[in-house]
Amino acid sequence: MSMATGSKFMPPQATEIAKSVDSLYEFLLIVSFISCVLVIGGLIYFAIVHRRKHEGEKTPYIAHNTTLEFLWSFIPFVIFMVVFVWGWVVYHQLRHMPENGLEIGVQGQKWDWTFIYKSGRKTAGEIYVPVNQDVKLLMTSADVIHSFYIPAFRTKQDVVPGRYSALWFNANREGTFQVFCTEYCGDKHSAMAAKIHVVSREKYEDWVQTDAYKGLSSVEIGAKVYGQRCIACHSLTPTPEGANPIAPSYYGLFGKQEKLDDGSTVLVDENYVRESILNPNAKIVAGYKKGIMPTFAGQLSEEEVMGLIDYLKTVK
Ligand code: CUA
Repeated sequence: MSMATGSKFMPPQATEIAKSVDSLYEFLLIVSFISCVLVIGGLIYFAIVHRRKHEGEKTPYIAHNTTLEFLWSFIPFVIFMVVFVWGWVVYHQLRHMPENGLEIGVQGQKWDWTFIYKSGRKTAGEIYVPVNQDVKLLMTSADVIHSFYIPAFRTKQDVVPGRYSALWFNANREGTFQVFCTEYCGDKHSAMAAKIHVVSREKYEDWVQTDAYKGLSSVEIGAKVYGQRCIACHSLTPTPEGANPIAPSYYGLFGKQEKLDDGSTVLVDENYVRESILNPNAKIVAGYKKGIMPTFAGQLSEEEVMGLIDYLKTVK
């Protein structure tokens, strides 16, 4: 029962550490399975063989057996020590940051991930890294505790507001891998995902120097930003009767008279949309809660805000 390929039970192994983690996991699984069979099997066996066979049967009095007691203490002790040392070695590999790794900044925010490259390029929801390169992520949070988890790399680290935490990896194959948030951080925690694209060094160099929105129209920029920033909470389809979404749908939103929670109405125009993005608590639509949407001030460029407004106009 080898899980080395990672195909049946585990995600793909895209780092060398993933292999070490899986070997340890496999060892624990096998040892646990054997122990389980011995303990439960022994329990059933002795219960049947040494059951009382007739009224008044007396079983022999056995106080202890030194050899047996020594063995069932000593063998588990050895196994535990092996697991401890092995686990310590793997953990040390995971936590020992590379000296000259490529460093990328990460900011977690309800409910997406922003990646900040030294070249000045910034992305949301996806990250590009070169293959066979030590990469260090220096991470912080704008609001609550999140956790950055890449199953294919077998690495995970809490992302905490007000301080930096870090993780590192060295992907050994090209491909796209999933990132999850693994610290419950509110309604859309499960939507707080991202993709890691592991590409060749040349592709990476190209990508990191390119303007993220090169050749895109304003609406296309908006659509891209929507897919990275808004999609977790705002849908593009009409809200069904009785549904209780976390945020208003974008469907037919632009140009509409929106009812607010203070009873007034507001026209959804460019200024309203802009304010809702940068200062979301200023006006709350009736039926929705204050404080759910985080501010995107400082997160989105002017180009992106305008793109979103243009994109919104097309959603009808
Ligand atoms: Cu962020 Cu869960």
